[in-house]
Amino acid sequence: MNIITVATTPFAGQKPGTSGLRKKVKVFQQPGYLENFVQAIFDSLSGQQGKTLVLGGDGRYFNDTAIQIILRMAAAAGFGRVLVGCNGILSTPAASAVIRKQGAFGGIILSASHNPGGPDDDFGIKYNLENGGPANETFTDAVYRRTQEISAYRIVEAPDVDLTSLGETRIGSMQVCIINPVADYAELLESLFDFDRIAGLLARPEFRMRFDAMHAVNGPYAHAILEGRLGAPKGTVINGTPLPDFGGGHPDPNPVYAAELVSALADAQSGLSFGAASDGDGDRNMIVGRGFIVSPSDSLAVIAANYKLIPAYAKGLSGVARSMPTSCAVDRVAAEMGIPCYETPTGWKYFGTLLDAGKATLCGEESAGTGSNHVREKDGLWAVLYWLNILAVRDEPVEQIVREHWRRFGRNIYSRHDYEGIETAKAETLMDELRKKLPTLIGMECDGMRIEAADDFCYIDPVDGSRSDKQGIRILLENGSRVVFRLSGTGTEGATLRLYLERYEADASRHTIPTQESLAPLVALAEKVARIVPITGRKAPDVIS
Ligand code: G1P
Ligand code: ZN
Repeated sequence: MNIITVATTPFAGQKPGTSGLRKKVKVFQQPGYLENFVQAIFDSLSGQQGKTLVLGGDGRYFNDTAIQIILRMAAAAGFGRVLVGCNGILSTPAASAVIRKQGAFGGIILSASHNPGGPDDDFGIKYNLENGGPANETFTDAVYRRTQEISAYRIVEAPDVDLTSLGETRIGSMQVCIINPVADYAELLESLFDFDRIAGLLARPEFRMRFDAMHAVNGPYAHAILEGRLGAPKGTVINGTPLPDFGGGHPDPNPVYAAELVSALADAQSGLSFGAASDGDGDRNMIVGRGFIVSPSDSLAVIAANYKLIPAYAKGLSGVARSMPTSCAVDRVAAEMGIPCYETPTGWKYFGTLLDAGKATLCGEESAGTGSNHVREKDGLWAVLYWLNILAVRDEPVEQIVREHWRRFGRNIYSRHDYEGIETAKAETLMDELRKKLPTLIGMECDGMRIEAADDFCYIDPVDGSRSDKQGIRILLENGSRVVFRLSGTGTEGATLRLYLERYEADASRHTIPTQESLAPLVALAEKVARIVPITGRKAPDVIS
């Protein structure tokens, strides 16, 4: 095996964000850019000699080029075997499932999740540990430090590996196995849910479902599981072929980017009763009923409240966890069930210790991420199957299930406003000024509600004691209302300000008031205290979800 050592110099800005390193494809295409980062990952590991690495991605532009480079570098780093998804495909939850089932040392996932793909758009890379979950901050900090001092990377000279058919080959002494990307994952999902009952639901003539894979990674998974194993009619899955540019779309399953699905479900003529979608790398989900979108925070709460209907969870939940900006709807379910509810910073990596320690069974984020202890990533198709299992047992429309949930627990009226592409310096000024002002806000009134507390969220992991500061500014009002401010950690251009708004309403007669109307006083408060318009020059958010 001919290992060559290539001299290199550090690139600035290789700091992993909320979920790995994300940059424009053009940035990744600079000679040595990907190599430096991968070498920094390998240099931060120890004990990988002879072990197994899992490798795959969401199929976006540059996925295949990156895989060939990483394979040759993995051989140079001493890995014994790499399991690569056929055609370079592995959804994020499937990669997590493969790492766990095959007892791998870790995995590299190539994805920029819901960000657009193509030569002028985004690419990303992240490392997952042997528990199948995203590396923790201690590891990503070590990788970042290494990128700042790197002087060489190591790579084996070898021809490209054929990724298009299943089988085994070698690069030097390292084995390369091209695996079916769906098999382990589908088997795992089948072990959690009542597939016979879901198949029965899908066979009913009055129940029609549509799954929009958004030309992203979940196409092959949805075809195999929904239409294959569960027998849904062909055509249930739309946009099911992964494309390097996602067909020019924005593979984020929200009411803006999955508008076609939403309008199909709103159209009585379509005959559809259930719609779902997932994102670029298959870890996010959207659940839509007839003329009714389920907000991700509500979805998490409904999922938790219905655990008894699902074979894998019927024995009970040890606890639940949500990211801080996610609505407190699930807290109310946990309180009624008498189980703990953990509040973590934004990003799935913070759920890992809770899941590993058996403290939480279900986790979720307001950003369309839901999952459980079956893997260590959020899981789009898992959420869809969970809902199908609920529907198969309860035999009620989606909207009725959610409204009944609100009547029982009250409604956490919730919305997120995103201001995208703000100049980074302005966004930082806004956050700094607001942070300084926090103590003066206590006692202020907003729409008859008093501000009870205001802080910058700091998290101490209850399992490993690690501390994460500055995880979002919270203004907490009476009766569970909140305004939260955060800067996104996944963007590739400027800064995105996220404003999270929540108001609790116990009175069912007020559950039909339009969400934005009910949250308007909190928006006014946010604009005023954070001086959003004067500092950013933005009069309104770009995306409301
Ligand atoms: C966003 C979401 C966050 C999610 C992450 C990865 O991060 O807000 O909940 O974990 O994408 O999918 P952000 O851009 O806010 O840092
Ligand atoms: Zn994603």
